[in-house]
Amino acid sequence: MKIISVVGARPNFMKIAPFVGVIEEYNRLNSSPISHILVHTGQHYDDRMSRLFFEELDIPEADINLGIGSGTHAEQVGYTMIEFEKVLLHEKPDWVIVVGDVNATLACSVTAKKLCIKCCHIEAGLRSGDLTMPEEINRLVTDRLSDLLLTPDNLSEQNLKNEGVSDNKIIFVGNIMIDTLDANIDKATKLTLKEIIIKNALYHSNIKIEDEKYAVITLHRPSNVDNKSVLEPLLNFLIDDVCAQLPLIWPIHPRTAKQLETFGLWEKVKQAKNLLLLHPLGYIDMLRLNMNAKIMLTDSGGLQEECTVLGTPCLTMRWNTERPVTLKEHGGASVLVGNNIKLLQNEFKIAQNLIRKPCRPELWDGKTAQRCLDAILNYT
Ligand code: UD1
Repeated sequence: MKIISVVGARPNFMKIAPFVGVIEEYNRLNSSPISHILVHTGQHYDDRMSRLFFEELDIPEADINLGIGSGTHAEQVGYTMIEFEKVLLHEKPDWVIVVGDVNATLACSVTAKKLCIKCCHIEAGLRSGDLTMPEEINRLVTDRLSDLLLTPDNLSEQNLKNEGVSDNKIIFVGNIMIDTLDANIDKATKLTLKEIIIKNALYHSNIKIEDEKYAVITLHRPSNVDNKSVLEPLLNFLIDDVCAQLPLIWPIHPRTAKQLETFGLWEKVKQAKNLLLLHPLGYIDMLRLNMNAKIMLTDSGGLQEECTVLGTPCLTMRWNTERPVTLKEHGGASVLVGNNIKLLQNEFKIAQNLIRKPCRPELWDGKTAQRCLDAILNYT
């Protein structure tokens, strides 16, 4: 069997790492090995957004890099399709495996299906219902086309059934991100906050940070960072409310850094007291920060899931989520606060008095990658 797996952007790397691991293990134990080709579309290209994750998570270097880089959505998707089609015509794989919801996921699933190649989507069935999110469009198209839909939780399985997807295409395998979390938690535990700060500081590395007495923020969604009228009040909330109570650690995404500069807000960020700015972090550094944070503020989907497993109180800076299993009402650690400042202030007050409450939804057990591979091998 020949498989091509695709990655494109940062949140894909922690999903593909355990899958590559189980293929390597299969090949060690079997006389007819799987021929596996890893394709990186190159959407994320900075060392800190890409290479670092390959090194830390033991992902072998991509066999093929399409070198797509930045661009509008149409440019990223279009160029990826053109380049990926050449790869497929040359390699003729039995399966294309796509993960998550980034532009590579959409572009490569469409290209595979146009050439009548079977496609498997790992992390299928997540739905925010919000078509203003590019990721939601990517999810819908990929799931509509894929032959095998591997779901992370019961709610996503139900979403697919509600959309009329036939039962035999859907397999509930659990959350592959948690395989990576479990595999790296010991390494993270051994790191000190000090070494993370020294390695990654942009500004203010001298702020005193103690375990369970700091907050962390990550922000990158266009809905939060692409308009000054939204980003500036958010920044004021971080400085006036959060930093007034707790040191705040902010590993800053390139999109957000660019927008802060464009809007003339960078000086304000630099001068804020109690705000520790870091470069984008590697997986293990971020895991260590999350493990001992008092509060997480984020608009990332993956962090919502990691907070649920680690029990870190999480203010999700979005109005909806494709991952409702992470919300408090489903036993998770996260609460939706959008970008409304009053709501943020209230929920931040509440969160300061919460204690860590870890939770593991069904099949978030660190063994999802093996179930993914089994589903592909047993597909008829
Ligand atoms: C992408 C994904 C999003 C994911 C996020 C995690 C899509 C539609 N979006 O959003 O689902 O949560 O990644 O990071 O695929 N840039 C760099 N260096 C890099 C990568 C990007 O400087 O290595 C810059 C780009 O030039 C661009 C900006 O960051 O201006 C945003 O990158 P882009 O790939 O458009 O999407 P993300 O916002 O990162």
